[in-house]
Amino acid sequence: MDPVTQLLEDVLADVRGEDAGAVADYIPELARADASRLALAVTGPAGGTIAVGDADAEFSIQSISKPFVFALVLDALGRDEVLRHVGVEPSGEPFNAISLEESTGRPANPLINAGAIAVTGLVPGTDLEERSARIVAGLSAFAGRSLTVDEDVYASESATGERNRALAHLLRSYDILHGDPHVSVEAYFRQCATLVTVTDVSVMAGTLAFGGRNPVTGEKVISARTARDVVSLMTSCGMYDGSGSWLLRVGLPAKSGVSGGILALAPSQFGVAVMSPRLDVHGNSTRGRLVLERLSDELGMHVF
Ligand code: DON
Repeated sequence: MDPVTQLLEDVLADVRGEDAGAVADYIPELARADASRLALAVTGPAGGTIAVGDADAEFSIQSISKPFVFALVLDALGRDEVLRHVGVEPSGEPFNAISLEESTGRPANPLINAGAIAVTGLVPGTDLEERSARIVAGLSAFAGRSLTVDEDVYASESATGERNRALAHLLRSYDILHGDPHVSVEAYFRQCATLVTVTDVSVMAGTLAFGGRNPVTGEKVISARTARDVVSLMTSCGMYDGSGSWLLRVGLPAKSGVSGGILALAPSQFGVAVMSPRLDVHGNSTRGRLVLERLSDELGMHVF
């Protein structure tokens, strides 16, 4: 076994016995996840990816989609236009908080739900089908393969998504969302229900780490400046109200999702993804955090 694969296997073996946290159950389809699953992948600058553990297991991307959709609209509309609709400040609050600026209604940042729904509202498309197709195509370009939506997860998100729906209507009342809020929030549910593996997420992380160029396909998916903006945002806001301690302990820009995935990256060096469904109180994977803490230490990757 080559030394990198050995290191990744060792890290997984070290955390496999940890069983703290609980699988997200506020969306019925997520509650069905196999809590024992654990997978890790790393992607280097030439696109080589090493994946270990349950690397073929698919899971819904959830909030890990948020920085990528933000990247797509930043690239399409420019920073000034996008920042008129959403801020870039840490909210210090949970992912589903109603963190809106008092005078303008601008959500604190694009990585909490309110901000992500505002950003999804900026994706061109007159109806749900068109907007959702654009989002899935965009996420696919980052992953380097054609991704699909898990229709059961989407239906489950939509059936239980009253808080997100309320956020969308609030955003519409402030004119942050234009048009029918239903289209934006349903497109957001479909975005969260897009299926990925750790290898996909690792390649997506790599695309951000290497200035917007997908290291596997060679496609320039977003500009280097957009990639830098998104990585900066993930550094301050990627782990919600756990972002400060994450930066201290792991020291890598990252983004988590409630299905147990965490994406992280070392700028210009590698993209990484880990998946394990049990979550801590902030909604971040417990074993995922331990894996990345170990990896960051072993490889001396803390950015500071
Ligand atoms: O908005 C929601 O409820 C979810 N579908 C996505 C949230 C998510 O992944 C939050 N992250 N930890």
